[in-house]
Amino acid sequence: MTATVFRPGLEGVVVAETAISTLDEGLQYRGYAVEDLARNATFEETAYLLLYGEAPTQDELSAFRQRLAANAAVNDRIVDVLRTIPPQTAMIDAIRTGASLLAHWDPDAGDDSQAANLRKAERLLAQLPVVLAIRHRLSLGQAPIAPDGALPLAANLLWMLRGEPPGELHVRAMDASLIMYAELELNASAFTVRVVGSTLSDLHSSVVAAIGALKGPLHGGANARVMDVFQEVNSAESAEAWVRNALAQKRRIMGFGHRVYRSGDPRAEHLKLLCAQLAPATGHETLEQTAGVIERAVFETKNLRPNVDWPTARLYYYLGLPRDIYTPLFAVSRVAGWTAHFLEQRESNRLISPRASYRGPAPRRWTPLR
Ligand code: CMC
Repeated sequence: MTATVFRPGLEGVVVAETAISTLDEGLQYRGYAVEDLARNATFEETAYLLLYGEAPTQDELSAFRQRLAANAAVNDRIVDVLRTIPPQTAMIDAIRTGASLLAHWDPDAGDDSQAANLRKAERLLAQLPVVLAIRHRLSLGQAPIAPDGALPLAANLLWMLRGEPPGELHVRAMDASLIMYAELELNASAFTVRVVGSTLSDLHSSVVAAIGALKGPLHGGANARVMDVFQEVNSAESAEAWVRNALAQKRRIMGFGHRVYRSGDPRAEHLKLLCAQLAPATGHETLEQTAGVIERAVFETKNLRPNVDWPTARLYYYLGLPRDIYTPLFAVSRVAGWTAHFLEQRESNRLISPRASYRGPAPRRWTPLR
């Protein structure tokens, strides 16, 4: 069959039907606005909603949390490998390897049924944060901290990363960021999951491929690079001139623009409010002020608005977390959306195998060298 339509970057092309989320009116996960979830739900409830299609009852949530807690510990051999990965390895690459290693010790490895894949999805949700925290502590030369099954996932993550019991505002900020990062319809990494899953490859391979797609600076890798902007700008006074100069040089300012949200990303608006609360509590009012100046200047000069990564980067910074783990935190959360897409793809699978429009040489004959 001759291919007829070419849309660079697949912009505006519909390649799947989904009941998981929509960007059509703000951002909704299975009908619930993300702002509503960030205000009133936890990351575990959100992950359950994405995976199972409905909000959990109290009993379902307790059972889900118990399963996550019971599955959180990772095999010692995985810890050994995390210890031996070269120290200069980027954290996102280390957890990509971690996700792949988890496949080898998964009790359902080799079982590709939907029930087994749901169990694997839950285990990845529980274990990837632990892999991240272990590697983070090892990279600091510190002993890993065992997950505390009694804590909610956001609090546990902060505990395992920082080694001190987190305060309520910090937990709320982490929880909100994980909820906002959990899912976004058919972006590059979710599409990757569906492409790999559609070949009947396994769930872990799909997630490993998705982490590879996420790490790029045009996708999830942007959140870490937002901190480079703050480093370059230096002060609120120089921010406006910096922005005008950067845009005049056709530089891309990380954390701004979005393929779909041309008039504003609803996630950014919500997280900005949390940044405004956290900044004074953590002594970062100056950075908060600089962020505001940059935001205004980018809008006035290029009519671009912030995306989710713009406030999330400084939110993590206010939480005392290092730049290297920002994109991995995105991945830890997006496992919920990715695995929901994998399961949905498999409900009515068809191999995803598009075409390309040929631009190469006209047919010609091969001349043998001898
Ligand atoms: N800084 C400067 N100019 C930009 C930016 C930016 N951040 N984003 C878009 N533009 C300009 C771009 O140069 C182009 O201008 P012109 O028409 O004058 O040539 C116009 O806006 C359209 O850009 P595009 O690249 O065709 O738009 P796209 O839909 O392909 O890009 C994007 C979307 C997210 C890749 C882009 O906005 C970008 O590179 N942003 C910076 C990276 C970033 O923050 N990524 C995170 C995205 S949201 C979270 C996620 O999904 O991971």
